[in-house]
Amino acid sequence: MKLRIFLVTAILIPLACTAAFSQGKPSTNIPHLEKHGTATQLIVDGKPFLVLGAELNNSSASSMEYLRPLWPKIAATNLNTVLATVSWELMEPEEGRFDFSLVDGLIQDARRYNLRLIVLWFGSWKNGKSTYQPVWVKTNQQRFPLVQDEKGKGLPTLSTLSDVNRDADARAFAALMKHIREVDGEAHTVIMMQVENEVGVLGPSRDHSAAANQAFAGPVPREFMDYLQKHKDSLIPELRKRWEAAGFKTSGSWEAVFGAGMETDELFMAWNYGRYVGRVAAAGKAEYPLPMFVNTWLRQGKDKPGEDIPGGYPSGGPLPQVLDAWRAGGPAIDILAPDVHVPNYADWCAWYTQSGNPLFIPESRGDARGVAHAIATAGKYDGIGYSPFGIDRLANPEGELGKGYQVLSQVAPLILEMQGMGKVTAVLVDQETPRSKVRLGDYTIEARFNQGRGPAPGSPAVGAADRVAGLFIQLGPDDYVIVGRSMGVYFESATDATQSVGLAVVDEGQYVDGRWIPGRRLNGDETPEWKALWFGGDRYTIQRIKLYRYR
Ligand code: DGJ
Repeated sequence: MKLRIFLVTAILIPLACTAAFSQGKPSTNIPHLEKHGTATQLIVDGKPFLVLGAELNNSSASSMEYLRPLWPKIAATNLNTVLATVSWELMEPEEGRFDFSLVDGLIQDARRYNLRLIVLWFGSWKNGKSTYQPVWVKTNQQRFPLVQDEKGKGLPTLSTLSDVNRDADARAFAALMKHIREVDGEAHTVIMMQVENEVGVLGPSRDHSAAANQAFAGPVPREFMDYLQKHKDSLIPELRKRWEAAGFKTSGSWEAVFGAGMETDELFMAWNYGRYVGRVAAAGKAEYPLPMFVNTWLRQGKDKPGEDIPGGYPSGGPLPQVLDAWRAGGPAIDILAPDVHVPNYADWCAWYTQSGNPLFIPESRGDARGVAHAIATAGKYDGIGYSPFGIDRLANPEGELGKGYQVLSQVAPLILEMQGMGKVTAVLVDQETPRSKVRLGDYTIEARFNQGRGPAPGSPAVGAADRVAGLFIQLGPDDYVIVGRSMGVYFESATDATQSVGLAVVDEGQYVDGRWIPGRRLNGDETPEWKALWFGGDRYTIQRIKLYRYR
């Protein structure tokens, strides 16, 4: 009898799971995204998870031997997640023959070091070019057509206007997801997937192949028109303006509906990339519905002429001005994510949190400025996580990233509890913007860069950081946890200007397994002007405080 129950269960459970996967229904146990107040969080093993990540160099995960000495250093850098490439060329060296040894090696080694993985699928594209597709794809352009420029010259970039390209990529990605489900569907070492890498056309602002020209001259697809009409009042402002300027038409060619110009070329490409990558993601999700994101090569500033126009950066990638085309074209993609290698970090975070897009940063810097950005991502923008590029070089527990993640991992559970609830926020301060104020609860909190008991404004701080973050978490009406570095922190009443604010209690300390362990009680010289907090030293520290008011 027992054996029969076991056999029935052994047969029925996997079937039931497969059926659920095929319908793309998330089982609550699979890593997934979930709303928490106004935030969207990544849930891993039933609990919210803040990705303190870092990305390997592109070629590192093609050799487990190469990675072997790196793992202990990576783990010692206090990350919880590694972002690693799995490439189509190595996974499907011959059509239909899959080799999963590298992904298996990654999963095993990550587990050994108690790390999670985000797998980056380098399929049809990487940085606008097609270099990671297998040789049998690369060398057969009759079957797998390329993008063409205005003169009809082929570029080393697979065309989005080919169902054959898309289906070959989707089949391989689905095989990868099926395999990950089989080897990791219980342990959840792999928690998210990046589909492709920094897609878009480099050079011309759109594909000029015959299929692309025909689609461009033809009507804007009905699904996109329907989306635009349905979301008319919540469209990204740039797109709404273009559509409005051309008369809010509800049908017509791309140029008739949006006007002629590079921006329309870019929108056309965004729709086509969104459709293609969305289908690849959907094929993968049908096997195993992990959260999936796409990453973006951003438009560069005016200081890099030529790189601030579509084609100078990959045209059709998921940039803010075309987010709606991606949303409409690729609904299976959960997050549109910026790779922030440009200086105006906060602007990009604001642009990428428009219309409810959850913020995840797959690539950025790993220095002191990067740590400040990681804190702001989680604290100010309710972000899912942060990942500097090139952990091969950054791995070092005493480096900026190692020190920063050590403190962030202590407060991560608190941040996650308060995200989306209006009880956590953060500010960035630096030489150009040395002061920043924010309201949290009934207090206005101001961070002052290098000011308080520290060096005079303008002079470098101890263990110099050229930009720092202040993280503020509200525990109760007068109770706060503050994380900072190289800054003074000042308080005012936000509700009654006649009241002064005093420090009732200031403790420095640490969170160990979520429990607060106080260290020194700070007062006197350690609380500048007897009314502010001072965060000195060469790393972020934590203070837990109680405020009071007096007249
Ligand atoms: C952006 C790309 O997405 C990465 O794969 C890598 O090439 C970095 N640039 C290098 O900085």
